[in-house]
Amino acid sequence: MFTNEEKEAIYKVIYSRRDVRSFTSDPVPKAAIERILEAAHHAPSVGFMQPWNFILIEEEEIKHRLAWAADKERRALAIHYENDDRSSKFLNLKIEGMKEAPLTICVTADPTRGGSHVLGRNSIPETDIMSTACAIQNMWLASCAEGLAMGWVSFYKKSDVRDILEIPPHIDPVALISIGYTDGYPKAPILETVKWEKRKELEKLVYHNKWPVLT
Ligand SMILES: Cc1cc2nc3c(=O)[nH]c(=O)nc-3n(C[C@H](O)[C@H](O)[C@H](O)COP(=O)(O)O)c2cc1C
Repeated sequence: MFTNEEKEAIYKVIYSRRDVRSFTSDPVPKAAIERILEAAHHAPSVGFMQPWNFILIEEEEIKHRLAWAADKERRALAIHYENDDRSSKFLNLKIEGMKEAPLTICVTADPTRGGSHVLGRNSIPETDIMSTACAIQNMWLASCAEGLAMGWVSFYKKSDVRDILEIPPHIDPVALISIGYTDGYPKAPILETVKWEKRKELEKLVYHNKWPVLT
């Protein structure tokens, strides 16, 4: 179905995609955003419910209010890492990135879409959010292929984001996504580069037949 070159391309995108937290103010081409959203819309979803919406935010005032909501949460979280203010600094970088990036996209999930008996969602209700996460990953890969940088922000109070974007109470604001160009697309996860965490060995995460007795 795919040539070797095409196969290499997909793995290249998967391995090169990075979470980015600094952006230039260069505008993002509309056609690229349309392709990125189309890629998101081709994600798998439970019962094919397609629970997502994408709110494109370019107005500076609204972007700043969202950054304020994330900063408020960063300050509230700071109490958990009193002895390690690196965490606070990293989260702060992300907030600066939110203000820099020319475009923010709020990706939402509508748990009511498709009625009360979405095929496959009866047993695990959070599969609507999982489906939305698949859409976000498609956006991430498509952005990378387009030469655009993307960052995912998930520290905020959902009620703040609902208020700012006038989102109805039953809709879940799953992610705030910053998109733009960057001067330095990271070669490795930033948290790995700063020795926060490194990629675990895959071999240790793969089990056979049963969960092993770990010593
Ligand atoms: C569900 C999810 C939520 C995330 N939320 C945040 C966030 O709130 N702030 C942040 O700085 N990074 C966030 N990230 C980005 C991760 O920190 C990043 O993906 C991870 O460090 C690995 O780096 P990489 O994406 O460059 O491979 C999030 C990623 C995912 C998948």
